[in-house]
Amino acid sequence: MVDVRVRSFESVVFFTGAGMSAESGVPTYRGKGGIWKEYDHESCACQTAFEREPEYVWEFHNYRRELVGKCEPNEGHLAIARAERARPAGIDVVTQNIDGLHQRAGSQRVHELHGSLWKLRCDACGWRDEDHRAPLPEIHCPECGAYKRPGIVWFGDNLDGTTVRTVMERMASCDLLVSIGTSAVVYPAAELPLIARRRGAVLVEVNPEETPLSEIYQVHMRCPATEALAELCEGLEAPG
Ligand code: APR
Repeated sequence: MVDVRVRSFESVVFFTGAGMSAESGVPTYRGKGGIWKEYDHESCACQTAFEREPEYVWEFHNYRRELVGKCEPNEGHLAIARAERARPAGIDVVTQNIDGLHQRAGSQRVHELHGSLWKLRCDACGWRDEDHRAPLPEIHCPECGAYKRPGIVWFGDNLDGTTVRTVMERMASCDLLVSIGTSAVVYPAAELPLIARRRGAVLVEVNPEETPLSEIYQVHMRCPATEALAELCEGLEAPG
């Protein structure tokens, strides 16, 4: 069995999806209890819907802010944050999640591929802010009165170029990539671990279920994120 404990590697990327936050009570998007079973993302989580029905899009996002705002980081988030404290330069989190739970657990080096539920912007005048109030009391821009837009990468949006370049660089320089809780069906995020694979990193997939990209991983941990991370981060003590 390959030794995949984080302490045996110099440079580690944790690549996380909604399953990372499942044990915090944040619903996943797909599979059992997935929110796309209840909501049609084309009517509440894309630019077209926002332009057509901004109030409904805000109703959905305020529902998500209230639900996610009540959730706490789980033992898996905390294990990753402890690992970073033990190896400040050697651990990065590349997340598809918008819930901010990695940061609330204490992780500093977090790259949010799909933006954040808590970030806001105005596409009419360029105003930007971060606001954790749930629900958001005011959905109009304080500068120009247009609707605020959640700072999320919706279906059909481009990812932020700077974030993608940083993430690709980290994927190309890591020697361990741990994918946690992603169904690997949304691109371009899903194929990013291939960069690490081409570089010769050891790839670990943490997911109770198989995914379409399971074959690129050398090690599969078919268990919940918290259980796998307790094992992977074993023996890594933060200094002091
Ligand atoms: N631990 C680990 N994995 C889990 C757990 C758990 N406790 N519970 C569920 N999972 C797995 C499921 O088996 C599934 O494969 O997490 C995965 C969640 O898949 P999705 O809900 O599709 O989430 P994700 O892959 O992050 O979605 C990608 O799709 O809707 C868009 O932009 C959104 O970032 C999101 C993207």
